[in-house]
Amino acid sequence: MSIDLDDKIPNNVDLSSDRRLQKALEAWQPNFKAWWMDMGPSSFQQDQIYLRTAVSVEKGGWAHYDYVKMPDYRWGIFLAPGAAEKTIGFGDHLGQPVWDKVPGDYRKELRRIIVTQGDTEPASVEQQKLLGKCAPSLYDLRNLFQVNVEEGRHLWAMVYLLHSYFGRDGRDEAEEMLARRSGDADSPRILAAFNKPIDDWLSFFCFTMFTDRDGKFQLAALAESGFAPLARTTQFMLTEEAHHLFVGQTGVNRIVQRTAELMKETAGDVTKQGGIPLEIIQRTINFWFSASIDLFGGEDSSNAASYFAYGLKGRYKESSSDQITDHQALEGAYTLDTVQDGKVTSAEVPLRRAMNELLRDAYIEDCQKALAMWNKTLSSVGVSEQLTLPSHRFNREVGAFAGLPINPAGEMMPPKKYATEQFKWLPSAADRAYVQSLMVPVYGPGQFANWIAPPPKGINGQPVDFEYVKFH
Ligand SMILES: [Fe+2]
Ligand SMILES: [Fe+2]
Repeated sequence: MSIDLDDKIPNNVDLSSDRRLQKALEAWQPNFKAWWMDMGPSSFQQDQIYLRTAVSVEKGGWAHYDYVKMPDYRWGIFLAPGAAEKTIGFGDHLGQPVWDKVPGDYRKELRRIIVTQGDTEPASVEQQKLLGKCAPSLYDLRNLFQVNVEEGRHLWAMVYLLHSYFGRDGRDEAEEMLARRSGDADSPRILAAFNKPIDDWLSFFCFTMFTDRDGKFQLAALAESGFAPLARTTQFMLTEEAHHLFVGQTGVNRIVQRTAELMKETAGDVTKQGGIPLEIIQRTINFWFSASIDLFGGEDSSNAASYFAYGLKGRYKESSSDQITDHQALEGAYTLDTVQDGKVTSAEVPLRRAMNELLRDAYIEDCQKALAMWNKTLSSVGVSEQLTLPSHRFNREVGAFAGLPINPAGEMMPPKKYATEQFKWLPSAADRAYVQSLMVPVYGPGQFANWIAPPPKGINGQPVDFEYVKFH
């Protein structure tokens, strides 16, 4: 399973043994690079960034740290070492051998799953394109670029699957991945959260906290797949994804810490010292959390039931959790939150139809842990206010609660009252303008913008004041 880094395309899939595939991917490579130069980080492409690169897929030994210019990053194709189960772990094909080729009956569904996942990867790079110009420190600048190059690699991972298993239409889909643009009116990215602008660092940290975390749960469900190449690809992506979540969770935590310190110093009004008020942090959490839980899809979903029945997409920890013993999920029901006659109510659906909701539940539980960390930070500085997660019914664009006037407590409100009070719960134009006014670059080693606390330690054992980016 060693990775051949000298290959034009680094890989551990023995690419050179399949000349046709190799040629197809080598033909896509210049298009990817052209997309990266056009839509990847603005400026900084000639600078030396202290980045990790995958050099092996073995646990603990896969990350190699060094200075790299981003265009020279070794984007490649890495599958986890045979970790995939040998038999399908759930659904109608439970216990049958896993598929090494695309099962013909499910080709359309598999392609859709891979394209939808793949599309999010370049989308987030596009959304974050301008953030380098206002980074609060070299440490953060480096983390942004690490996330960006790895999202580029995740695109490679999905494009590899499309090229190797879907023939002509797979190649077409791979081209489309480079043609759609985040936020574009004519050719947007597939999912809504990936078309929303990220133009300040509070939004970036909330995005990597909440939206990348959706990615973690989607990838984890796909890592259970009966289609073995998808399972092994996503398993390795998850190891990279962990860092993105770290960047988000600790990034928000550092802002919360600084805000709390400034609240103490300024007797409340942190804007006097260029801090970000807690209310703006809360509203930005509300915005990205609600946009991210939309990504799980409708509560009662026949598509989700099919993906599970076919063995394409499992539950979170389907194969490893002691809690999950019935891997067919034919028995049992799930009580969902829904809306009837304009009122919030509950409805029982067969378990398989609730797969989106089960994944969303696991996700929300994970988010609560981060909230607990941030609230601990507030208390430890002596601030009594706390941050909260809004109800999963709040500000939804997808599913039973889409477009309804529901407050963060999850209660239905008279539409007019909701319209006038909404600004209390979601970032206003003034909030965005204020946060934007703080976005000035801080590029001195060991220096940090005043609205964010330094991290407790650096990357890969390096000191916090390490020169994480060397400008050319
Ligand atoms: Fe990703
Ligand atoms: Fe990510």
